[in-house]
Amino acid sequence: MGTAKRRVRLGTVEKTLLWTVYMRVLDFRNTPPLVGDVWAVDVLDHLEFDRRILWGVGGDRNLVLLRARRIDAWARRWISAHPGGTVLHLACGPDSRALRLGSPPEGRWFDLDLPNVAALRRDLLPEPAGYRLLSASVTDAAWLDEIPSDAPVLVIAEGLVEYLSPTRTRLLLDRLVGHFPHGGEIVFDSVPGWVGATARAYGVPMFGMEDPRTPERWNPHLRLVRAHPLLADHADVPEWGYRTLYRALNACEATRAAMRLNHYRFEGSAGSAPDPADRSVRRGAARRASRR
Ligand SMILES: C[S@@+](CC[C@H](N)C(=O)[O-])C[C@H]1O[C@@H](n2cnc3c(N)ncnc32)[C@H](O)[C@@H]1O
Repeated sequence: MGTAKRRVRLGTVEKTLLWTVYMRVLDFRNTPPLVGDVWAVDVLDHLEFDRRILWGVGGDRNLVLLRARRIDAWARRWISAHPGGTVLHLACGPDSRALRLGSPPEGRWFDLDLPNVAALRRDLLPEPAGYRLLSASVTDAAWLDEIPSDAPVLVIAEGLVEYLSPTRTRLLLDRLVGHFPHGGEIVFDSVPGWVGATARAYGVPMFGMEDPRTPERWNPHLRLVRAHPLLADHADVPEWGYRTLYRALNACEATRAAMRLNHYRFEGSAGSAPDPADRSVRRGAARRASRR
């Protein structure tokens, strides 16, 4: 990363990445941090923008940090079980997840964001081996052709689906499932309708998804593995006040799902074709060999 500041010109939705970077900066100053994004401080330092957009953002950052932390944990586990797999990180912003976790050692990592954000990111963060940054909107069809379909995939979309209409989300899921014949897993967060409506009232174009099983009805190949209400992780919130608030909100049916992490699996048209670098496949083969 050079020393020059990079002037930020972003639209309403893209600007939300400044909030999440700022939250990771505040997190990094905590001991111990929830996410520990060592890159976030440098990223924010190199962005030139009207800092008023950050006013009030630092207050309650914990839900977003719990979300990032849980995705990191799930993704780490998936990568270790699928060293030859492909990670597809949609709407990456300047998030350093690829650097925090590392690409699958025998596979690949693709980050993707809108062209203006991808250009910004390219100036700010290094691109490690096995990594490629794509510059496109998830709503376009062409970018998927750039991604080899010869391995299972983990798709991560953090802070994206809220900004896509249900029709666009459905189309995206259909394209993803259709593109990877060896199947994979998809993780994205969602908010309920009332959160979407509240955000829209403040000028942020957000959509809610009431039922995490909705994608199963959209696409018969998708199976919900789990829908995790992030407020359930309240015990890990560092500040006593927010920890207490989250515990209370988690106990209330109406507010528990204020932000959920949804995890889906799909088999793919090739069935459960083995990823040759998949440790679970290798373990199975070793067990069978030892029985012989
Ligand atoms: C709330 S930020 C989240 C960024 C990052 N995932 C994080 O958690 O720090 C939303 C991101 O979605 C991206 N985004 C919004 N619409 C998109 C689209 N149609 N295609 C690709 N990226 C999009 C924005 O550019 C922005 O980086």
